[in-house]
Amino acid sequence: MRLSKHSPQIINPMSENSFHPQQARIGIIGLGYVGLPLATVFAEAGYRVLGFDVSRAVCDGINAGHSHIKDIPTPRLAPLVEQGLVEATTDFERLAECTAISICVPTPLNKIKDPDLSYVVAATEAIAPRLRSGQLIILESTTYPGTTRDLMLPILEKTGMKVGVDFFLCFSPERVDPGNERWHTKNTPKVLGGITSACKDVGMALYAQVFDRMVPVENTEAAELVKVYENTFRMINIALANELSMVCDKLGISVWKVIDAAATKPFGFMKFTPGPGLGGHCIPLDPHYLSWKMRNLSFKTRMIELASEINAEMPEYTVNKVALALNEQGLSLKGSRVLILGIAYKKDIDDLRESPALDIIRILQERGAEVLYHDPYCPVIADDGHTEIPYLPLHSTPLSDELFQQCHAVVVVTDHSGLDYQGIAAKSKAMVDTRGVV
Ligand SMILES: NC(=O)c1ccc[n+]([C@@H]2O[C@H](COP(=O)([O-])OP(=O)(O)OC[C@H]3O[C@@H](n4cnc5c(N)ncnc54)[C@H](O)[C@@H]3O)[C@@H](O)[C@H]2O)c1
Repeated sequence: MRLSKHSPQIINPMSENSFHPQQARIGIIGLGYVGLPLATVFAEAGYRVLGFDVSRAVCDGINAGHSHIKDIPTPRLAPLVEQGLVEATTDFERLAECTAISICVPTPLNKIKDPDLSYVVAATEAIAPRLRSGQLIILESTTYPGTTRDLMLPILEKTGMKVGVDFFLCFSPERVDPGNERWHTKNTPKVLGGITSACKDVGMALYAQVFDRMVPVENTEAAELVKVYENTFRMINIALANELSMVCDKLGISVWKVIDAAATKPFGFMKFTPGPGLGGHCIPLDPHYLSWKMRNLSFKTRMIELASEINAEMPEYTVNKVALALNEQGLSLKGSRVLILGIAYKKDIDDLRESPALDIIRILQERGAEVLYHDPYCPVIADDGHTEIPYLPLHSTPLSDELFQQCHAVVVVTDHSGLDYQGIAAKSKAMVDTRGVV
């Protein structure tokens, strides 16, 4: 029988050469902030990558050589597509072509902050009917300890195939930090755990080909917990910095100078800074995965609850500071014009997910202020039916001396590079600086 172009290759992953770029084909499900960089790293190591996404627009864009992810510029992606090393498809039948499949789909929280694993389930259910002997499946999406074993494994074993024997299942958390020029997908150490030790060995055999440093851990639960612990550590320390900023306001001391001075201690201290609230797809959400899991085991994660509470107060705290600044001018929020500088959740990126700027704008509008914003990375806040901001769409306003004169207060929410914050402060009637740039 002649194999067609799309026929599965029969590969024994335990054999030495099976993960050789000439032989292996890597499937990536979900081609967003995590999946596209991962696809790129594999392709740059010489692997043929087949990306799967439910969005036709995402696939069409990638197949045309265009990147929709800022960390992967189009000139980096286009040659890989041209050489046939990266291809994207919405045809999940083609999962059978892959030697290994990494899953990079979203893991959001629902309205009551419980994990929404429907995307992981959908991806696993897409794999199950096409699962073939020897395939390696690796979940990359952030989730609570136990997801890979309790949720994915039963779906895959329903096929009658046995994990660690017929197929291999691992968890390896993505640690990508969008916009970080020093640490990126390839050079950030990669943690990996398997359902069985054979799974871990197979997972390591592939990932060690492309990542600079692998960190194998005991099992999938340990790997899942590593990721949520890292982000919980960050979330709790940001909460402490936020509380310190409130303490400093009461004491009339500059929080920035206190933190900078503390950071001169060469041991036992790590610098975290306060801000307008948490943002992004990870830090505000991931700790809730752990607290949800532990609630099911009748354990209360008190540090997480308290830190979340403090961080969640920051947008309102920022608006109250704006109200105080207006008060100095004999004005109220109602009827005042407020300019927000930066709305992405952190500097120099275009990601608006969970951005505290959206909460700040909502509260300002609810209290009757007219809100304008400037963000070179985010030209519009559209009404997508989910946002609770009363008056949308809003468009980024070009900066001018006239604009600063027309606004009663300017709020630095995201400290994108390239703005002359000192100059803007000098031209503004009042400035609230949540990032310590002035
Ligand atoms: N963005 C980050 O900085 C970051 C960092 C570390 C970990 N993570 C984690 O990685 C995971 C993915 O996050 P992301 O930021 O890449 O998300 P994203 O929204 O940028 O991308 C997800 C992609 O998956 C696609 N998708 C959704 N359901 C699908 C399905 N059933 N089959 C195929 N494709 C599907 C979407 O169309 C989208 O293109 C999440 O669990 C996240 O917590 C994200």
